[in-house]
This record gives sequence, C-alpha cells and structure tokens, in this order.
Amino acid sequence: MNYHVLTLFPEMITNGVNTSITGRAIDKKLINLNAINIRDFSGNKHGQVDDYPYGGGAGMLMQPGPVYRSYESVVEKIGYKPRVIYLTPQGETFNQSMAEDFAKEKDLVFLCGHYEGIDERVLEMIVTDNVSIGDYVLTGGELPAMVMIDTISRLIPGVLNNNVSAEFESFNDNLLEYPQYTRPDTFMDKKVPPILLSGDHAKVDKWRREQSIIRTIKRRPDLMEKANLTKEDIKFIEK
Ligand code: ADE
Repeated sequence: MNYHVLTLFPEMITNGVNTSITGRAIDKKLINLNAINIRDFSGNKHGQVDDYPYGGGAGMLMQPGPVYRSYESVVEKIGYKPRVIYLTPQGETFNQSMAEDFAKEKDLVFLCGHYEGIDERVLEMIVTDNVSIGDYVLTGGELPAMVMIDTISRLIPGVLNNNVSAEFESFNDNLLEYPQYTRPDTFMDKKVPPILLSGDHAKVDKWRREQSIIRTIKRRPDLMEKANLTKEDIKFIEK
C-alpha cells in the first residue's frame, strides 16, 4: 500500500506514521508513506497557498492551483488516477467496513485541508471520497488522515505480528471485544475470572462471546442491529 498525503504539515504525518506499528510496517516495506508539501507547488516565490474567500467571510481558503499540482505530481509518479480522500467533517463517517474497502487499493491519496477549507473547484476535480472521522471539527485533516492510515494499515497482511488478531477483535460480527486479563491473577484483591484459568478452551470461547454480547448491549446498543448473531447468541440474549 502506498499512501500519498497532500498537506501543508508533512512533518506531522511523517512523525506520526513513522512511529510504533505503522513505523515498523514502513521498515518492512509493507506500507509506503509519501508526505507531499502542498507549499512546494505554490508556484510563487513567497510560497503562498491561501487567499481570501470571494464574497467575503472569515478566514482564508487554500487555493486550487497548488492542491491540483501536488495531486498531479502523484498521478504522474504512479501512472494512473487513484482514489483521493478529502478529510472533512462534511464527509461520510469513517468506519471499519470503509477501512476494509480502502485497504484493497494499491495507492491512496489523502488531501488535508487547513484554514477555512479548500476552493471547491479543485475538490470537484480530484476528490473521489469525502470522509469524516466524527462529528467534531479539527483544525486540519492531518489527524484524520493518520487515523485512517493507522486503521487501514493494520488490515494489511504482515503489519500486525499476530495475523489472527485483526480479524478477531472489536467490530468482528459488529460486536465489541470481550474483556481481557494478564498476570498477576490477583491485582489489589481483584481476581481474574476463574474460567480463563480453567484451560477449557470451549468454555473460554463461549464466555468471551457472551461477554462481547453483554458489553455491546450495555455500551453500544446501536451496534446490535447490525450484529451477526448465531442461534446460540440469540438463545443467550433471550435468557
Ligand atoms: N477536518 C476537520 N474536522 C474533521 C473531521 N471531523 N473529520 C475529517 N476531517 C476533518
């Protein structure tokens, strides 16, 4: 997977993504990160990339030229027109199934806005997907781009050490993950649920599934509508 991030703050992206699991994935060449400074495409010696909005109003807008030229540099490099994700609170809310869909691509372009936004014409020309990470307003698209890169990367084979873990946790079957415990078996008088020490794998699996269901009903009842439940799950819920 090649990520191309069009941004005015490339160091924010490289510092973030070069860390921890995504950093190791870059070292292992499982993902590749290309943070592109839109200012390098300003076309003027002052490096100006923003201007006042026509019609008046607060703040500055990113001009279409630098954004378009930075995008074109990616198209020239890879030889085709990739999906371009614009990070905006006006987009579709990001979720796990969108991440699974984006993970199938060979290249993804993330367009990060700043100031009060980007000239609408260039958005119409290049953006294929408008994506929000939630109903709140951030100062720019860099953190949302990093959220998406992190979520997509862990779905790529080899990125997580444990290749079953991406499949088996939160949001599989649209249920929340069950509670987990490690040593010590007693912590300040609180014991690990005894069933986890029983060595009976079938019982442990059943207990975990039930805990997932209980937790989802309590914390995220909205997810239950979309949950993939077995006959056994339904029997458990009904009693
Ligand atoms: N840019 C500013 N706020 C955002 C959000 N919530 N999601 C995506 N991009 C954004």
